[in-house]
Amino acid sequence: MSAKNCAQYTNKVILGPMVRIGTLAFRLLSLRYGADLVYSEEIIDWRLLRSKRIVNEEMGIIEYIDESDGTTIFSTCSEEKSKVILQLGTSDPERALKVGLLVQDDIAGIDINMGCPKDFSLKGGMGAALLKQPEKVQAILTTLVSNLRIPVTCKIRVLATVDETIKFSKMIQSCGVSAMAIHGRMVHERPQHANRSTVIRQVASELDIPVIANGGSKEITKYEDIARFRETTGCSSVMLARAAEWNASIFRPDGKIEMEQVIKAFLIIAVDKNNPFTNSKYTVQNMLREQQETPLGKRFLATQTMEDLCNIWDLKDHYNAKRKTYELYRGWNKHKADN
Ligand code: FNR
Repeated sequence: MSAKNCAQYTNKVILGPMVRIGTLAFRLLSLRYGADLVYSEEIIDWRLLRSKRIVNEEMGIIEYIDESDGTTIFSTCSEEKSKVILQLGTSDPERALKVGLLVQDDIAGIDINMGCPKDFSLKGGMGAALLKQPEKVQAILTTLVSNLRIPVTCKIRVLATVDETIKFSKMIQSCGVSAMAIHGRMVHERPQHANRSTVIRQVASELDIPVIANGGSKEITKYEDIARFRETTGCSSVMLARAAEWNASIFRPDGKIEMEQVIKAFLIIAVDKNNPFTNSKYTVQNMLREQQETPLGKRFLATQTMEDLCNIWDLKDHYNAKRKTYELYRGWNKHKADN
């Protein structure tokens, strides 16, 4: 099977998938700083399957809303349409295909998570559970590649040996995927373990499709480090998760900017694109990290509304200008849930 649009994944710097961080607001922030592609957080197939697609003209967004509780499962907009990769958690080819058919007109590609080590994923036969089920992987990927118009990719971890990892990766390639991301840690390894750049390099040298190197955030503190990681791993592209979570301006070729400015830029987009307060606070908290101990950090921790958050970063005027749309629309989502 021939792969679609491999060029989309060649020579790119990519925002990796991160649960609760990789929302529309954070993806747009990353794109505006210079990311070439942005992955959504992992979304479980059945959640999307029971959602309803709603176009919000006023905010310029498309939302997939869970009608049972009014929560937004996935939202997107035209600014990211050619850059957003939706990451799916799945263990079933037919369910995955149904999701693909539902969303393919709104996104640039679909990715299957084969690296999540969490119990929830493993028990559901998803994430890293797939690394032990090559037939299942083959069925999911070939079903998607054969029936979708958009490129299909997957994200794996390194296996117990280099040979096993290469064999598994070649099987993935033979399914017709357009690229493969590889995180250089095994399933049981945590972020503090060293990332296996050498294994990534060996795998990349054996594949013809673009390979996306991942796992290097601890060594990536400035823009130039991204190119170094690409060279060390011999990969076509680099995917950053934590380095972007800590400061999304890592994607700026001109260098990182002050955290204050990054938080401000994020909050403006969060208000503009209907990002919920709780998620916005969580995202800012992950940017502030140890600064939560400072007086500003303490004021931040006490916030209870989007307005409180905006006030801390002198965004009162922006919030007030958008308040009607933001509050109405969030209220409207709740109204849908109540009915
Ligand atoms: C992750 N990671 C992750 N991976 C994935 O495939 N789907 C996901 O939804 C998530 N969620 C997630 C949330 C958070 C908060 C973190 C920090 C990480 C793993 C992530 O994409 C990446 O593989 C690892 O963090 C290693 O890359 P970095 O951080 O060294 O660039």
